[in-house]
Amino acid sequence: MTSVLVVHGPNLNFLGRREPAIYGATTLDEINQTLIAEGQRLGLAVTAVQSNHEGVLVDYIQSAWNVHQGIVINPGAYTHTSVAIRDAIAAVAIPTVEVHLSNIHQREAFRHHSYIAPVAIGQICGFGADSYRLGLLALAHYLRTHHAA
Ligand code: DQA
Repeated sequence: MTSVLVVHGPNLNFLGRREPAIYGATTLDEINQTLIAEGQRLGLAVTAVQSNHEGVLVDYIQSAWNVHQGIVINPGAYTHTSVAIRDAIAAVAIPTVEVHLSNIHQREAFRHHSYIAPVAIGQICGFGADSYRLGLLALAHYLRTHHAA
């Protein structure tokens, strides 16, 4: 079965409590349950991980090598700072969809640039928790059409 790793970056473990006007009331657990259920519908095995630490996120991405066929990642604030996470995605060369709950292009200027976007197959942002589900859907379609595995 095609396998997808969902990677959540820093502060996303606080979803539901964290700036709900921006990030919504849905918890990370609820998002993961939705993704697992949506994955079953799409024929994808979904594994979700979260870390507040940049190096741990790099380790998770590296560990996807030869294990997962796709990645959905919300790198949180590391989106705007992390060459290491970008390089990890480029290194494993696993199709990766970048997602954000908020529309980063509508917010402060420092959120407009993503180090991840150039190594991602695409970016989905601005749909709240649904950005993840839409990202998984886009990845499923990409894997079906580009990787007849
Ligand atoms: C975020 C957007 C980032 O700018 C921010 O640092 C986050 C969450 C989002 O999902 O909207 O932590 O990635």
